[in-house]
Amino acid sequence: MSKTWGGRFTQSADPTAERFTGSLAFDQRLWPHDITGSIAWARALARAGLLTAAEAETLVKGLEAVRVELEAGTFRFRAELEDIHTNVERRLVELVGDVGGKLHTGRSRNDQIALDERLYLKDVVAATQAGLRGAQEALLARAAETVDAPMPGYTHLQRAQPVVLAHHLLAYVFMLQRDRERFADCGRRVDVMPLGAAALAGTAFPVDREALARELGFASVTLNSLDAVSDRDYVLEYLAAAAVAGMHLSRLAADLSLWATAEFAFVEFADAWATGSSIMPQKKNPDVAELIRGKSGRLYGNLVAVLTAMKGLPLSYNSDMQEDKEPLFDSIDTLLAVLGVLPPMLASLTFRTDRMRAAAGENFATATDLADYLVRKGLPFRQAHEIVGRVVRHAVERTLGLEQIPLADLRRFSELIGSDVHQALTVEASLRARAVTGGTAPEAVRRALAQARELVRA
Ligand code: ARG
Repeated sequence: MSKTWGGRFTQSADPTAERFTGSLAFDQRLWPHDITGSIAWARALARAGLLTAAEAETLVKGLEAVRVELEAGTFRFRAELEDIHTNVERRLVELVGDVGGKLHTGRSRNDQIALDERLYLKDVVAATQAGLRGAQEALLARAAETVDAPMPGYTHLQRAQPVVLAHHLLAYVFMLQRDRERFADCGRRVDVMPLGAAALAGTAFPVDREALARELGFASVTLNSLDAVSDRDYVLEYLAAAAVAGMHLSRLAADLSLWATAEFAFVEFADAWATGSSIMPQKKNPDVAELIRGKSGRLYGNLVAVLTAMKGLPLSYNSDMQEDKEPLFDSIDTLLAVLGVLPPMLASLTFRTDRMRAAAGENFATATDLADYLVRKGLPFRQAHEIVGRVVRHAVERTLGLEQIPLADLRRFSELIGSDVHQALTVEASLRARAVTGGTAPEAVRRALAQARELVRA
């Protein structure tokens, strides 16, 4: 098979080298964008006087015919034609004859691949946003049911203070909201049209790049041809945003896996969203959650792979940059797959709110509230902290809960303690006190839920 660049070569390619350098196996997914870009380029060439209207029409019709073959699955991909760009162009020439050879006028695969990637990423960013929103909606639905469901809140994985389950779930809604902002920001920088940069120095023909950008739906054009063909920061930004989102989703999955243990027993996975063991008949494993957690590893790896491939490359284009695609596509596929399973998995969970409620009041969870009680009676917080520390030690020695210590005994630690103390130490009072914006009081959580809904749906 002759190459698009065969003229200056006397030897045909070594098949092993050909297999090694080819990218068709992975870049073929860019075909819809490659054809869209080529159709716009044919029209731009006609506007620049390089093609007659009839020639441009022939190219556009031919490219549409190639699109039909690709859509139908009848297109015969030829690996020996290196990449998707050459496969499409060669088929075009087969269909329309020599005039097809005019399509690549003033264009290079270097600006072509940058265009294809950017067009593709515009779609992918939109799909990622929709997926993140779906995950947020699933969390919002569970949060709406659990605004009044107390559970222990943790720091250092030690029981710390009571919170409500909705508060815990909404934390993830806000994390995913910032992920959406990161992808939107990535989308803004993807939205720049590189075609016309040609190989590296800019095309030698008077192509109206602004008109081309409008036709392709881009907000603006690249302003430096070397930059246009040699940077992949838009790929890196997607990979970085995907890595952060993957980390958030991993932590959610980690919480759920922990909560599904017999030790916690805060949640039960539906049978349809769990798996068994091939040897231990009693096992029910939270595999889906574990794999959501595990997938974060490849999201980080893909980011580091492309950062490393790009580092130290002299301007402008280098073939190393072809290594951007498999990590990018893998991160896209991975993140979209995670976002696909998360909402139904969340919907299927049974929260053991009885177990959470019981645990919420254990382990001196309201000790801070006793210190706050003393502060309200006028004691400096540091003294209050010290006194409550001694109360806790006293209770530990007698295996009592704070609320079980008789008033008379409590008063030996501070005369400021009165008969109203026990009602200040309940889980409900502890929650109710935290009514600041962003706090865990059910009333504050209801407000946050409404605000989260608005953000998510904006
Ligand atoms: N397959 C190449 C890539 O992904 C397209 C650009 C190739 N350009 C070149 N001069 N070899 O980056």
